[in-house]
Amino acid sequence: MIVVENISKSFASIKALDQVSLQVSQQDIFGLIGPDSAGKTTLMRIICGLMDPDQGQVRLMGQNPDKIDRQNLGYMPQRFSLYGDLTIEENINFFGSLYSLKSSVINQRAEEILDITGLTPFKNRLAGSLSGGMKQKLALTCALITRPALLILDEPTYGVDPQSRKDFWRILYQLNHQGMTILVSTPYMDEAELCTRVAFINQGHILACDTPQNLKSPFSQRVLEVRTVCQDPHFFDDLEEIEGSSFFGYKYRLVVSDGLKGKHAVQSYLNAKELAGSIETVPPGMEDIFVILTGENS
Ligand SMILES: Nc1ncnc2c1ncn2[C@@H]1O[C@H](COP(=O)(O)OP(=O)(O)OP(=O)(O)O)[C@@H](O)[C@H]1O
Ligand SMILES: [Mg+2]
Repeated sequence: MIVVENISKSFASIKALDQVSLQVSQQDIFGLIGPDSAGKTTLMRIICGLMDPDQGQVRLMGQNPDKIDRQNLGYMPQRFSLYGDLTIEENINFFGSLYSLKSSVINQRAEEILDITGLTPFKNRLAGSLSGGMKQKLALTCALITRPALLILDEPTYGVDPQSRKDFWRILYQLNHQGMTILVSTPYMDEAELCTRVAFINQGHILACDTPQNLKSPFSQRVLEVRTVCQDPHFFDDLEEIEGSSFFGYKYRLVVSDGLKGKHAVQSYLNAKELAGSIETVPPGMEDIFVILTGENS
């Protein structure tokens, strides 16, 4: 569905994308996961044909992005870009008319999509007075009005409350089950778990690209959970074996370079500080994998 080959793009001295390649299949909910400034928006704009790369090429449904029928591509940009002084219904009608859809077609599709997104009771509300989550659902509704085969969503759940994020993902699954290919970017590592395939991107580089399960399996022994009475977030900073640590008030989550050596090092460290504690190897999460991969690539 999407083939990206060796894409590079610079803005003056900033290398936003450096030799990026990836493939998205028809059945995917493909996650582009990375922190601020990783290059996610730049890559999505190039995939949509809104920006030219300096190098490399993109094929969308076998064609150049600027050759495809725009009705086959739904794009929801990162920032809410609809009209705050129009109602939900008026925004949808306006958006549909940009594609020269007949009003009877717009009305029928709008009804279906509003039902999926749960916005039907609010369709006469001004877009400007919607909550953040509802604004995002409206932007999604507008991106769906042409019934695209491919939907590209740039950080659709950023800043949205946890319940609305869940709702949003339920909608994405529903659309995917109906046959829609979805490319979605997010800075939230928990959302990476929800994708069929994931590309981690950092500073313009793809660090890894695979299913969440395959990304995690090589690192099954490298995350430790440590419980001790100490409550200093930087307590383990001096230990060489530790690649990353997070503190959760009552426990530490440590990413170590070697499971067994790491465990011994943490035990010796606790002993030296005369602190009792428990150390357990736990399955890695996507956030841990990102920490490991950025460490390996820096
Ligand atoms: N039009 C532009 N002019 C100059 N620099 C740009 C432009 N667009 C992006 N950049 C730079 O390219 C890099 C990648 O930006 P991009 O917006 O693609 O990242 P992102 O992963 O989408 O980040 P965010 O999560 O903050 O949206 C950043 O350093 C950014 O400042
Ligand atoms: Mg962005």
